Amino acid sequence: MAKAVTNARTAAVKVLGRVLAGRSLGDVLEDGLRAVPAGAEQALARELIYGVLRWYSRLAAVRDNLLARPLKARDADIGLLLLLGLYQCIELRTPPHAAVAATAEVARSLGKPWAVGLVNAVLRRFLRERETRLAAADADPAIRHAHPQWLLARYQEAWPDRWQQLLEANNRRPPMTLRVNRRRLDRAQYLELLQDAGLSATPHPYAADALTLATPVPVTRLPGFDAGLVSVQDAAAQLAVDLLDVPEGGRVLDACAAPGGKTCHLLERYPAAGEVVALDIAPERLARIEDNLRRLGLQATVLAGDATKPASWWDGTGFERILIDAPCSGSGVIRRNPDIKWLRRDSDLPALVATQRQLLAALWPLLVPGGKLVYATCSVLPEENERVLADFVAAQPDAQPLSLAQEWGVQQRYGRYILTGDAGMDGFYYGCLLKT
Ligand SMILES: C[S@@+](CC[C@H](N)C(=O)[O-])C[C@H]1O[C@@H](n2cnc3c(N)ncnc32)[C@H](O)[C@@H]1O
Repeated sequence: MAKAVTNARTAAVKVLGRVLAGRSLGDVLEDGLRAVPAGAEQALARELIYGVLRWYSRLAAVRDNLLARPLKARDADIGLLLLLGLYQCIELRTPPHAAVAATAEVARSLGKPWAVGLVNAVLRRFLRERETRLAAADADPAIRHAHPQWLLARYQEAWPDRWQQLLEANNRRPPMTLRVNRRRLDRAQYLELLQDAGLSATPHPYAADALTLATPVPVTRLPGFDAGLVSVQDAAAQLAVDLLDVPEGGRVLDACAAPGGKTCHLLERYPAAGEVVALDIAPERLARIEDNLRRLGLQATVLAGDATKPASWWDGTGFERILIDAPCSGSGVIRRNPDIKWLRRDSDLPALVATQRQLLAALWPLLVPGGKLVYATCSVLPEENERVLADFVAAQPDAQPLSLAQEWGVQQRYGRYILTGDAGMDGFYYGCLLKT
């Protein structure tokens, strides 16, 4: 039987429907693209899915304003098709009339031929009235920047002078950054391999192993990827290893380790480290750590367990270094995961903050005196970062905050932020505590 084939736009509508119904993009994307021919058609589907999620509330405001009456709930797919059409008209360089015609035709493959005319009419009207329609929607800053109101308010409160810059960075396409496996070759050598493969890249100014590609490519095009010469990891995430500064023979706990990006980097950087324990609460994610270790030729002790309950997995031997790469809102990595904006709720924050505080309190006793703990998140909100550290330090006499004299980021009383987009990096926070 011939393999079923789906075109990019139809697949995009289906994936968007699943995400907006509550599934995370990471969970549904690959499955949704399986029937789309590889190459240009898949690239278009990805572009449309990510683009519509980046601009969702703005596109929806423009659409709703153009419709004489709201669509019925059972025609939500036609509503998404309209967003797809508006996205192409507003953000892509495709000739708009061709994009409109191709988009309207998708109504047929969704089994709704009656909607071809509606989609055509709405999108053509938008093209005629573009400037006034956009200006009307953009009067509200939450719509203009396509963020939910609660998240906009949080950025404004945390960064009164820089919130606009953060929102704009969240809506930009992120770069693809590589981490060269320095156990195998150095950054300059890998840069040559990239050049030989026709790929151009630049060394990152702050992350010593990082190369940023001029244009993202599938990993299959990266020389030596399967052989473990290189991994994909944002430069901000690569800064953790410098802060860890693992001594020879030092035992390390990576408490929230999956999929193992930082575990593998620290093993590459510190070949003389002692045992490295990579722990994660999600057993299904441990396989990702194992795969990465195998591909890179590295070894760690991989454990499933809840880091807030060490009694269930800890063998009683202390650690010289602990990394807590805590679960968080992801407010620094929205450019890579635009679904966060529509799936997260303000009411999720208290539970995340409670876990972050529990992680710190539960793991502190596992650190040996003189040992160092690095606390990290991919969030730029103070509740999840410096406030967690400040309260912990106030209650814990043997916890001494270390000032980070790094050349990157924004210094706070406790720790440093990288604001999304600074030096091309994801938004991140790092804080370090010494056990006296
Ligand atoms: C930000 S991700 C870690 C990314 C990883 N460090 C890397 O660099 O590839 C956070 C991880 O924390 C894990 N996690 C959440 N709560 C946990 C807990 N109580 N104990 C251990 N791991 C936990 C999640 O399953 C998730 O894999």
